[in-house]
Amino acid sequence: MSDAVSQRYSTGAIIFHWLIALAVIINWRIAESAEHLEGAARSAVMSNHFALGMIILVLTVLRIIWRLTHTPPPLSDRLKSWEKALARGAHALFYILLIGLPLGGWIGLSGYGASINFWGMGELGALPVGFGEETGHEILELHGTGGSIMIYLMFLHILGALKHSFIDKIPSLSRMWFGSAR
Ligand code: HEM
Ligand code: HEM
Repeated sequence: MSDAVSQRYSTGAIIFHWLIALAVIINWRIAESAEHLEGAARSAVMSNHFALGMIILVLTVLRIIWRLTHTPPPLSDRLKSWEKALARGAHALFYILLIGLPLGGWIGLSGYGASINFWGMGELGALPVGFGEETGHEILELHGTGGSIMIYLMFLHILGALKHSFIDKIPSLSRMWFGSAR
C-alpha cells in the first residue's frame, strides 16, 4: 500500500455521503409517520416525502458525477475478498436505489396525474406516462418494497462499518470523515 494513495474519501464525497444518508433517514421516517394517516392529513405529510425524495435524486446525480471525477480510496487489503465483494455490491445497490426509488416514486405518482410541490416554492408536474392509477399504484407498491430493502441495506452497511472499525480495527468510519485518516 503506497503512502501516496489517499486512505480517505474526498471532502466532497464525505459531504454528499452524510447529507444524502441524513435525507434518506428523514424521508423513510416521514413515509412511516404517514402510514396510519388518511385523506388530507396523509397527503400533507407525504408531500414532504415527495419533495425531499426528488431533492435526494438531484443530490445523487451530482454525487455520481463527483464519484466519476474523484477516485475513491481503495478498500483495505485486510478485508477478505468476500467482504470486499459484499461492500462493493452494497454500495452499487445503494446507488441504484438512490436513483430508482425517487424516479419510480415520480413515475408512479404520475399515474395519478399528481404533481410534486416543493413547499410552495415550486412545482414539478406529472410525467406524461400514458397509464392510470392502477399501474401507478402497482409501481408505488414496488417503490415501497424497494424503500424497505434500502432500509435493511442501510442496517447491514452500518453493521459492516462498525465491525470493521471497532472489531477488526480496519479504518472504515474514519475514511468517511474529515481529517487525515490513513
Ligand atoms: C430516495 C428517495 C426515497 C426513499 C428512500 C423512499 C422510501 C420510501 C419508503 C421507505 C416508503 C415506505 C414503504 C413502506 O413502509 O411500505 C415509501 C413510500 C412511498 N413513497 Fe417513497 N421514497 C423516496 C422518494 C419518493 C419520491 C420522490 C416519491 C414520489 C414522487 C415517493 C413516493 C412514495 C409513495 C407514494 C409512498 C407510499 C407507497 C404506498 O404506501 O404504497 N417516494 N418511500
Ligand atoms: C441510507 C443511508 C446511507 C447510504 C445511502 C450510504 C451509502 C454509501 C455508499 C454508496 C458508500 C460508498 C461510497 C463510494 O465508494 O462511492 C458508502 C460508504 C460508507 N458509508 Fe454509507 N451510506 C448510508 C449511511 C451510512 C451510515 C449511517 C454510516 C455509519 C455507520 C455509514 C458509513 C459509511 C462508511 C464508513 C463508508 C466508507 C466505506 C469504506 O471504507 O470504503 N453510511 N455509503
